[in-house]
Amino acid sequence: MRHLLHTAELSREEAITLLDIAEDMADTQQREVKKLPTLRGKTVVNLFFEDSTRTRISFEAAAKRLSADVINFSAKGSSVSKGESLKDTAQTLQAIGADGVVIRHWASGAPARLATSGWIDAGVMNAGDGTHEHPTQALLDAFTMRRRLHGAGARGKGLDGVTVTIVGDILHSRVARSNLWLLNTLGAAVTFVAPKTLLPYGAEKWPVALETSLDRALAAKPDVVMMLRIQGERMHDAFFPSVREYSRQWGLDDSRFAKLKDSALVMHPGPMNRGLEISSAPADSAKSTVLEQVANGVSVRMAALYMLLAGKEA
Ligand code: CP
Repeated sequence: MRHLLHTAELSREEAITLLDIAEDMADTQQREVKKLPTLRGKTVVNLFFEDSTRTRISFEAAAKRLSADVINFSAKGSSVSKGESLKDTAQTLQAIGADGVVIRHWASGAPARLATSGWIDAGVMNAGDGTHEHPTQALLDAFTMRRRLHGAGARGKGLDGVTVTIVGDILHSRVARSNLWLLNTLGAAVTFVAPKTLLPYGAEKWPVALETSLDRALAAKPDVVMMLRIQGERMHDAFFPSVREYSRQWGLDDSRFAKLKDSALVMHPGPMNRGLEISSAPADSAKSTVLEQVANGVSVRMAALYMLLAGKEA
């Protein structure tokens, strides 16, 4: 694997191999000494043009646990604020000797531009670009589902026949898009639920069922309910009448939560707007995988960095 930019580019075999390597990485994280020598001598740059908590710290933890040297770059406080371009920033990283660049950018397509421009030789990992994709989030979500649903026998398996309902601000969600392609590759059936205004134009051509009523979608008793954050920072229009109305119609509140089947999983990529798209009862319940998703993110990102940077000899 040269770069990781979109989940659609992963074959089923590649996706399952990555999830299996993540299982191996997770095993190593149970040891007293968590560090592996795998990427000793390699330099990973975390290049963040947008805010992040989970993705940034878990990529840093993943690279450090593989013994890579890590350079953290945040656009805030850098020469980007003086007008430096992505190209000049990238070539500065090249001069420093980056082997891998993990990039989060507000512009959809920025990681692909970096990977294909010839500005740098490094492997590029998309850590979320605009409203486009967030591949490692989808991989850690799939890893979390596979572990919870298949337990110890998860290795080698996909998510065949698993029903996943993804609810909320689909329009602005790179998590929804990355999950859609990966979950389809792994054999799951995906439904998007949102007010019509938050369903992307053209979504009817995607391999997904579309629904505007959360109550109707939940009546089908899905295996997984993934709630998405309302992305106020990307909304420059009124997409629903009021926060209260959104929460009443599309929020996973206590009463909807009580009707989920016993084995259902409640997922959220974080950060959560408690009281808006999800109430505290489901968020903090035994059905919730929110913190497992964060923990699994380290193992999955270790696997992705390994596949990108370790080379054939590994
Ligand atoms: N899930 C996710 O991408 O969270 P952060 O924005 O905190 O990285």
